[in-house]
Amino acid sequence: EKGGYDYFMLKEIAEQPKAVADTLLGRIDAAGSLTLDEVRISASELREVDKVVIVACGTAFHAGLIAKYAIEHWTRIPCEVELASEFRYRDPILGARSLVIAISQSGETMDTLMALRHAREQGSKVLAICNTNGSTIPRESDAVLYTHAGPEVAVASTKAFLTQLVACYLVALYLGQVRGTKWGDEISAVIRDLSHISGEVERVLETMEPVRALARSLASKDTVLFLGRHVGYPVALEGALKLKELAYMHAEGFAAGELKHGPIALIEEDLPVVVVVPSPRGRSVLHDKIVSNIQEIRARGARTIVIAEEGDEAVVPYADHLIRIPATPTLLQPLVATVPLQVFACELATARGNEVDQPRNLAKSVTVE
Ligand code: M6R
Repeated sequence: EKGGYDYFMLKEIAEQPKAVADTLLGRIDAAGSLTLDEVRISASELREVDKVVIVACGTAFHAGLIAKYAIEHWTRIPCEVELASEFRYRDPILGARSLVIAISQSGETMDTLMALRHAREQGSKVLAICNTNGSTIPRESDAVLYTHAGPEVAVASTKAFLTQLVACYLVALYLGQVRGTKWGDEISAVIRDLSHISGEVERVLETMEPVRALARSLASKDTVLFLGRHVGYPVALEGALKLKELAYMHAEGFAAGELKHGPIALIEEDLPVVVVVPSPRGRSVLHDKIVSNIQEIRARGARTIVIAEEGDEAVVPYADHLIRIPATPTLLQPLVATVPLQVFACELATARGNEVDQPRNLAKSVTVE
């Protein structure tokens, strides 16, 4: 049932192009409009929404952090993202015009379930983004948008994450469509790019051998740091989480702009630092800033592992290892930038002799608070 792969995780990483395509299937029509009939919250209710609040745990929380950038940029509705386990304990401000989005692969995560119950008690509408048909979270929500990743067996979430991102983009674009905000050339271009993105994920998968070799060469390290900006920041957090749970290594993700506010003190000779570089097109200010960050850490001895778009030549002089990803619109970059980090963590776990599909101390679905 592992389809010839040694681990479910490897199989699930390889299934990502299909999972992404399946999650888009039937949701974008020929004219480039979105049809999310499953979202049984009326267009008039969606037009009234004055705040979006996303609740989730772990990897699903990282998808939520990325969704915030998309929702605020495309719809101009304020969006908060909160760890489900923290949410109800701080008496959050919610009302009938708040749209709460609960993201969960399993649909059984108790923290997320309790957060959505709390939201519904406050009169908010809850939309679940979920991978498991008929599970508790979608059953208790007002509406559900299913991700079509298929069953995810490995404890470390991979294909579910990519499909959660796709679902979040669809919701953000749909909200924009329904409300007529910023509905113009940019959005049409993003929809076009989304429909090609599974091929780009496939291309990334075809170039992973050097990433595996690099991972094996780092098997005796104690710490790996991850840096990113904008949507690359949650990608850095996700890369660090994967490494913790699979390789049992100390790994931390930082917003690159925070380096000089503390973390740069951690940099020492030969410390591996993975940097997710934003596209040099579009938000080029951020690109230039991160290139300076790479220079700063390298000057202090860091071994820089740079994930950058094809054609980005500015990073070349400062990259000890360069991992290329296809050019995408900035907001979609996490769909391609996360893949090398999954492969990296999986290979490091194998090199360290760890159980890839069943990391110690972890369960696939966490049904206690
Ligand atoms: O089933 P869920 O998406 O609600 O699970 C949430 C987290 O427990 C999950 O993403 C966890 O962080 C994964 N093991 C990460 O790889």
